[in-house]
Amino acid sequence: MKTGHVELARAQQERWQRAYVHHPQLHGSEPSAAAQWAAEVFGAAGIDDVLELGAGHGRDAFFLARQGFSVHATDFSESALDQLRLEAQREGLDDRVTAALHDVRDPLPPADATVNAVFANLLLNMAFSRAELRSLVSEIYRVLCPGGLFVYAVWSADDPCAGHWQELEEGLAVHDGFVGRFFDQPLIQELADRWRLDDETPYDEGPRPLRMWRVTLAKPEPQT
Ligand SMILES: C[S@@+](CC[C@H](N)C(=O)[O-])C[C@H]1O[C@@H](n2cnc3c(N)ncnc32)[C@H](O)[C@@H]1O
Repeated sequence: MKTGHVELARAQQERWQRAYVHHPQLHGSEPSAAAQWAAEVFGAAGIDDVLELGAGHGRDAFFLARQGFSVHATDFSESALDQLRLEAQREGLDDRVTAALHDVRDPLPPADATVNAVFANLLLNMAFSRAELRSLVSEIYRVLCPGGLFVYAVWSADDPCAGHWQELEEGLAVHDGFVGRFFDQPLIQELADRWRLDDETPYDEGPRPLRMWRVTLAKPEPQT
């Protein structure tokens, strides 16, 4: 890990591990709204392979695979990935869904400009410092091919619950041991520096429901 927050990161990783062990298939089997959007925009761009970050047990990876995409799913929870691999075999999707343990605070494994699309649902709003967030988005930019797409979804600062979380340093907040960040538009704009910002859409999702942001970024093609 390149930056601070090491203790916080380790505690969050252990917390996610426990969450997946005690609640298998924690996020259910329905795809997220962002994954449904990503399938549309990636498909329209002629893309058929996706790198998913913070994939959990893979509900979105399986949805994308069923839509015809090849998905490489990563997460820093081994128990989530064990569930994902088991399900991939059970569903006969293990030729289309691969998985690898990866903490996105570390550099992304792919070489420069070798990935067509990156997807991350509810990852960027996890316990990252602003420097870690900028570095992650810059890594995604590095691995994407020119014209490549990055779709992400995060908690919105407009969610009524945001006010009930206890504030920590640097805009992070904690509730019931989970640390995260509620995104506002200035942060979305800041992270879109160098990118073409194709879409920033507020929406509600889930039974409560949660107020979210969906963001689509494109890595610009070089000027000729
Ligand atoms: C809210 S869950 C979302 C899971 C999945 N994207 C979904 O929507 O079903 C956040 C996921 O991010 C993962 N995560 C959190 N911090 C991470 C990090 N630093 N590196 C990789 N994965 C991380 C957690 O293990 C968890 O699976």
